[in-house]
Amino acid sequence: MTFTISDAAYGTDTPAAKETMYADLRSQLQGLLAGESDFIANTANFSSLVFNTMPGLNWAGFYFLKGDELVLGPFQGKPACIRIKKGRGVCGTTVVEGKSIVVQDVHAFPGHIACDVNSRSELVVPVFSNGEIIGVFDLDSPLTSRFDDVDAAGVESLVKVLEAAIAA
Ligand code: SME
Repeated sequence: MTFTISDAAYGTDTPAAKETMYADLRSQLQGLLAGESDFIANTANFSSLVFNTMPGLNWAGFYFLKGDELVLGPFQGKPACIRIKKGRGVCGTTVVEGKSIVVQDVHAFPGHIACDVNSRSELVVPVFSNGEIIGVFDLDSPLTSRFDDVDAAGVESLVKVLEAAIAA
């Protein structure tokens, strides 16, 4: 396995800057996951790569479905809520809707679950396996309006790399 973790400082002020960052992240992720199908190893490295590359995050990690609950998986950041019922919070709502949710201001999202009082905005992307939702990847920021649709599409493209690796 060969890979290089970039030390580049990425801008997030234009869609083009974000797309450059996501293109770099995709290729780093492909190297990081190449030839490895272990679920915990890949999801742990995925959250570390994203957390240590994307500016303006205070948490990045996974929750996986077990019955009607999401249970905390590999993540980077402060300790977080362990179990979230389907339909609850931004993560549980993402499971019900089956698509990414961008929250510009967590205080304006009814039912938002505050794991870290510093979080101001959030992006949650569903993770699929064989066409079924198996969990979510959640990113939190201490900045209001940190995420937009470019980030949603960018993080979805990263999750697709992970989905391909764990299906291999
Ligand atoms: N804010 C999330 C809970 C998970 S933490 O942010 C890590 C939610 O409302 O589902």
